[in-house]
Amino acid sequence: MKLKMMYSFLNSDINIIEKKLEETIQSDSFLLKQASMHTLQAGGKRIRPIFVLLAGKFGHYDIEVMKDVAVALELIHMASLVHDDVIDDADLRRGQPTVKSKWDNQIAMYTGDFVFALSLELMSNIKDPAAHKILANTIVEVTIGEIQQIKDKYRFNQNFRDYFRRIKRKTALLIAASCQLGAIAAGASESVHKNLYRFGYYVGMSFQITDDILDFTASEAELGKPAGSDLLQGNITAPVLYALENEKIREEIIKVNENTQPNQISEIISLIKQSGAIEKSIALSDLYLDKALAVLEELPTNKAKKTLRDIAKYIGRRKF
Ligand code: IPE
Ligand code: IPE
Ligand code: MG
Ligand code: MG
Ligand code: MG
Repeated sequence: MKLKMMYSFLNSDINIIEKKLEETIQSDSFLLKQASMHTLQAGGKRIRPIFVLLAGKFGHYDIEVMKDVAVALELIHMASLVHDDVIDDADLRRGQPTVKSKWDNQIAMYTGDFVFALSLELMSNIKDPAAHKILANTIVEVTIGEIQQIKDKYRFNQNFRDYFRRIKRKTALLIAASCQLGAIAAGASESVHKNLYRFGYYVGMSFQITDDILDFTASEAELGKPAGSDLLQGNITAPVLYALENEKIREEIIKVNENTQPNQISEIISLIKQSGAIEKSIALSDLYLDKALAVLEELPTNKAKKTLRDIAKYIGRRKF
């Protein structure tokens, strides 16, 4: 089943979200508006706003309230992508040139800040101070995760604990917050929003592990963003950590440094793929998915719960 089919009962609300996204990034600055509209219209899976809406179904769902939170979460994500493409020196995103390549790094910095601040403005419609605390804390953690990744570049003596801590911060917590804030905005009980947070955290871990696998196994055309560049840039992810356990492959991997050329890396990538590291990484991602599915069982049964289950399973098999 296609991702879009899974939440088709939310279609009219998703359309409201799309419209609100466009409305929100209107600006007196032609440049900021153009650059953010460019990223927005390039598409994307919109997984975070979908989680917000689905989580809201566990409380008193009012689209007028939910839409601000859903749009805010997508905008925070979008801002982090615009900045991430500067850090990762990426020229393609959502099948389109990135802001940093179509314009430049300076414009990308301010476009990211602009989109980010707009999301906070929207969130101000939410009265519960707990929601703001959760969101602010999540953003702090994302930043720490991205900085840690820069500090950990080409550091081949790192372990899975370092990796898990990093991906929790840079990816899983924002998905966890999407689920939790959706529930809080709908006034769901504490036990419900805490469980949704845990669900989002496990799904988010699986999501980033899959993203890291796809960097090895998928093509740029499939992903709509660069592939095969994580290791070249010194980003040590699950497949690399598993491959490092093999002495012979380890000797090759630890030679990778800032001066390694793309043609040299392709041989090492083949070695990693042949080592069983991809299969082990898939199993790792599945482990987190199983945890996510187990948490779901503790939630009340409704249509949203079934959809969350379908989406969680999709995330483990996603090809882009
Ligand atoms: C990309 O996120 C960044 C990661 C956390 C892996 P998505 O895969 O959700 O990106 P879009 O929004 O669909 O483009
Ligand atoms: C996720 O990591 C980035 C953010 C948290 C913004 P990646 O750097 O792997 O994301 P992609 O692969 O560029 O989408
Ligand atoms: Mg990155
Ligand atoms: Mg990136
Ligand atoms: Mg990636």
